Amino acid sequence: MEQHKKEGRYSRIYNQLEGLLTKTDNTEARMATVIAVLHHKMDYYFWTGFYCLYQEELVVRTYQGPVACQVLEKNKGVCWAGINQGKTIVVENVHDFPGHIACDSRSNSEIVVPIHDRQGNIFGVLDVDSKELNSFDETDAVWLEKIVGMI
Ligand code: SME
Repeated sequence: MEQHKKEGRYSRIYNQLEGLLTKTDNTEARMATVIAVLHHKMDYYFWTGFYCLYQEELVVRTYQGPVACQVLEKNKGVCWAGINQGKTIVVENVHDFPGHIACDSRSNSEIVVPIHDRQGNIFGVLDVDSKELNSFDETDAVWLEKIVGMI
């Protein structure tokens, strides 16, 4: 997607979420709302969801898209890299990423953004997959970090 179009779309999504995320402080509800808006507004998003730490594993939470792995093998793949490195990971081609976990063989590129609790501890990641190669860049990273910060 063209950069200015992408910027405009994220900016509108951000504004929409500011309006929507005023009803409850319930984390599940807020996460579900963020996923629904992102998944339906960004046409290159193929799978959009959260994986959160639970009993030392990464377990899927609210998501939209095809059925995904419920549990991700520890310290393997892109989501665990986001947790372990504590930063956003952009993967141009998932097939080149060591240990990538293919929940759906149609995914070709991916972005993973850590999400923190109020104390600043990482409790999970936002994971977005695309069917195209090289869908995500710095613009996605900046906006998605802002958006997960709203939860
Ligand atoms: N690809 C991820 C696994 C989750 S699915 O993409 C939904 C990974 O390597 O961590």
